[in-house]
Amino acid sequence: MKKINGLSIYSYGDSGKQPLIFVHGFPFDAGMWRKQIDELKEDYYCVAYDIRGLGASEKGDGLFTMEQFADDLFGVVDGMDLKKPVLISLSMGGYIAFRALDKNSSIFRAAIFCGTKSEADGNEGRIKRADTVKRINTIGAEAFIKEFIPNTFRAENITAMGNEYVEFVTGLLNTPGTSLIGCQLAMAGRIDSGHVPLKADMPALFICGEHDTFSPPAVMKADAAKWPGSEFVLIRNAGHLSPFEQPGQVNEAIRDFLKKL
Ligand code: MLT
Repeated sequence: MKKINGLSIYSYGDSGKQPLIFVHGFPFDAGMWRKQIDELKEDYYCVAYDIRGLGASEKGDGLFTMEQFADDLFGVVDGMDLKKPVLISLSMGGYIAFRALDKNSSIFRAAIFCGTKSEADGNEGRIKRADTVKRINTIGAEAFIKEFIPNTFRAENITAMGNEYVEFVTGLLNTPGTSLIGCQLAMAGRIDSGHVPLKADMPALFICGEHDTFSPPAVMKADAAKWPGSEFVLIRNAGHLSPFEQPGQVNEAIRDFLKKL
């Protein structure tokens, strides 16, 4: 593990190979990508990091912005000396990716989006964020994480995973409330990135769980339709966290896409 700018960064495989940079979702950490990295590290240089405030990265005061998260991503690419990495993201990680691509797409070779969308929160979404902040303050960070994470999986997959699911959630329980709230406010305050797919100048793959309620297939398909030459893959029997729920299908989609680059 390497620390750059307060961020915990994990790298796997041969740094001479095509780099992949993984950006996780809320309220997870780099570990949510382990099933992809285990599969891909033989053939690609895999780099994942914990977003500021989450995992083992610096917690700070929780006053985060999407701009800072995007700049953090640039800091990781630069600090790890990644040449034209493929940007792989999920959900909040995708919001970061869209923003980073808007700011400077030239440093990336291609993009893979899982369970995410380019559009910003509308009024309803912002009110929901306020409710979430209130909920975190009311029940505490640990109880919130236990309550929230089941929404990100298809219920049947939680049952099927058994202990693996319990361990996954347990690993996230130390996340401070200030970080959770900071991420919610950063997401609420992010700008709309709906113009990013329209001006895209690189190959992209959109991966969506068929039961994803955060970024449903119709929403992801709309982004894919705007992005010239992109591909869309629907993951069967998966919710929002398709890379963790259905790694076989997701890894196959990623491999097929990467082979064509
Ligand atoms: C995520 O999974 O990163 C977030 O829950 C997405 C969101 O709240 O918009």
